[in-house]
Amino acid sequence: MARTRLVIDTDPGVDDAVAILLALASDELDVLALTTVAGNVAVDKTTLNARRLIDLAGRPDVVVARGCAAPLVTALDDAGDVHGLDGLGDIEWSEPVARECAEHAVDLLARLIAEGPLTIAAIGPLTNLALLQSRYPGIESRVERVVIMGGASFAGNVTAAAEFNIWCDPEAAARVFAGPWPITLMPLDLTHQATLNDDDLAYLRGLGTEVGRRVAAILEPYAAYHERWHGNRDVIMHDAMAIYELLAPEAIAKQGAQVSVETAGQHTRGATVIDRRRGYASSSTRVGVALDNPTFVAFLRERLARYR
Ligand code: BDR
Ligand code: CA
Repeated sequence: MARTRLVIDTDPGVDDAVAILLALASDELDVLALTTVAGNVAVDKTTLNARRLIDLAGRPDVVVARGCAAPLVTALDDAGDVHGLDGLGDIEWSEPVARECAEHAVDLLARLIAEGPLTIAAIGPLTNLALLQSRYPGIESRVERVVIMGGASFAGNVTAAAEFNIWCDPEAAARVFAGPWPITLMPLDLTHQATLNDDDLAYLRGLGTEVGRRVAAILEPYAAYHERWHGNRDVIMHDAMAIYELLAPEAIAKQGAQVSVETAGQHTRGATVIDRRRGYASSSTRVGVALDNPTFVAFLRERLARYR
């Protein structure tokens, strides 16, 4: 079977890290590049973190390309309180060997799209994709597929209405969802069904590998943050859902929908309005609605255990 040519557009981020390591452990995916964007932390840090993860995975063949340093119209309001000041839980790393390439993330994406069918997993704010649209008009219809982690059908996680990736750059998200690419969206109501617990962190530590130790270490403060704010240590695997969808599409139930982004609301800026009425049932925009967490966790454990 042909491997899926994939670029991960990302703002690592501890759950981005799990998504990236899941993708890099999976033979079904031909991961060509990590393109970085400002989001969880500034783009200097997300790019450094992408390089750290490439080293950790032992995959120097994967290109790291730096993207947008700020949302389209506002200043960055990051999520360092959730992901650590460095974006990866503030553990020790040595200076990475992996380098970033000279090409801007958006130009690299355009070139890879021109070279063959390309899938994009977008797991940070959508600034790079919006710039890709404006710099390369009509490019949306030449992309095989875009799987986005973002938005929420019901409650947000930054405000009562808005999820972080969309709230961070609503103008970019509005443009992306208005474009004609085939989008599959993994909103919070889906990603909150995908959680790791302390047993899973112990399993990762027990693997006795660098990947196992480091993933457990970066997820530890994420669990502690969740406990402070939500009263339990659930480790929510938001971004891994975009990769799980590519690896096991039958594992996530989806439905057709139309997605719009609120950019002006006084209390609802950054909210996604997900219209699931029957008229949109066969829309090329698909929204994830349900998954079985034990099946996902077993899948993730097996894939991360492949690192030696
Ligand atoms: C999303 O926001 C970020 O903090 C996470 O990395 C994820 O992409 C979840 O709302
Ligand atoms: Ca992310």
